[in-house]
Amino acid sequence: MNKIHIQEDLSGLRAVIGDRGDVFVIIDKNLREFYPYFAGFQLIELETSERNKTLETVAMLVNELLERGADRNALIIGVGGGITTDIVGFTASVYKRGVKFAFVPTTLLSQVDASIGGKNGVNFHAYKNMIGTITQPQWIYMCPEVLRTLHPRELRAGTAEALKTFVLFDPHCYRLAVDYFAELEEQLQKSGSYLLNGKFYGEERLMELIGCCARYKCEVVERDEFEKGERRMLNLGHTFAHAIEKVCVSTGIMHGEAVAIGMVLAAKVALKMGMTDSDFVEELTADLKRTGLPVEIPIDPQSSKPTEMRILVEALKKDKKVDGDHIHSILPCALGDVKDVNVPLNKLEEIAGDLR
Ligand SMILES: NC(=O)c1ccc[n+]([C@@H]2O[C@H](COP(=O)([O-])OP(=O)(O)OC[C@H]3O[C@@H](n4cnc5c(N)ncnc54)[C@H](O)[C@@H]3O)[C@@H](O)[C@H]2O)c1
Ligand SMILES: [Zn+2]
Repeated sequence: MNKIHIQEDLSGLRAVIGDRGDVFVIIDKNLREFYPYFAGFQLIELETSERNKTLETVAMLVNELLERGADRNALIIGVGGGITTDIVGFTASVYKRGVKFAFVPTTLLSQVDASIGGKNGVNFHAYKNMIGTITQPQWIYMCPEVLRTLHPRELRAGTAEALKTFVLFDPHCYRLAVDYFAELEEQLQKSGSYLLNGKFYGEERLMELIGCCARYKCEVVERDEFEKGERRMLNLGHTFAHAIEKVCVSTGIMHGEAVAIGMVLAAKVALKMGMTDSDFVEELTADLKRTGLPVEIPIDPQSSKPTEMRILVEALKKDKKVDGDHIHSILPCALGDVKDVNVPLNKLEEIAGDLR
């Protein structure tokens, strides 16, 4: 399963790669400042956007690898956020029927989530992640150094996924994470940056939280690689998030932001179903807010009002988790107590008005 290396910076990467000549680094074009760390390896630049996460890009990479003579013993390293690791993992898993690959994830979201677990792939027409495989990387190298250049919204998007994992598995780490990321936000408000003397404020705490979160995801994947059961829990907040991303696309909402709102909505559904109490819903909402994440459905720029819950529920009905007149939902009832529940669609329609 995934071997994860967590270090302070990129200086330990060469030792992990080892002494080999057949290394091909596929790197996000926006990460030019990190290119020097990969001097001496074959470097292939990647244009990253959801529009570019396609089979055409995979074909382009296959072509590059062939032209540069990558054979079946090559090691391909994907350096970038979740888009890069998804595309590179897929390309490597089909190139010459599969070659070894590894990742250096460079967004918080990809360190705590996207790079772990072996799911990779590309979009197909309007369908996200429609074509892919589940193939595990050789190793994943993470460090806070690469995160220092992230835009605050990108960092918060990763915070949402990390908090999701801790809601599922670890109330203690959840509280440490809320406190840490809330302090980071304060630091940002005070000084305009998360950094202090060139490093993240409290960077060792950040490293520990990333490591802890990554380990939880690894363990779940180890127990349920092909998502037959427990791995589904990681979709906490995601059913609503996907509906929000679809319906509120004009607001420019990011996936992680939608996950934060989705977790709050899922907790409100749990409350309406008598599975939790209002204290928990209020605590979760306040915690996410403290870390700078949105907790309410965004304002539609055209109507200047939040998108109506009724419209979100309509979008939910088209989700792949709908099974007849029910939808499989992951509902948080307390920290460390999350349930996989079949919620009747008519119940959702009935309570829609009370969810905001
Ligand atoms: N495979 C999985 O299990 C899994 C899980 C979650 C998400 N995903 C996928 O991950 C993707 C989203 O990942 P993401 O949010 O990392 O997106 P991303 O790769 O697009 O990165 C976000 C943005 O940050 C930039 N960036 C990357 N590293 C940077 C750095 N160190 N400094 C400054 N800017 C940097 C990128 O160029 C990009 O503009 C989606 O396509 C999603 O489907 C996959
Ligand atoms: Zn997600």
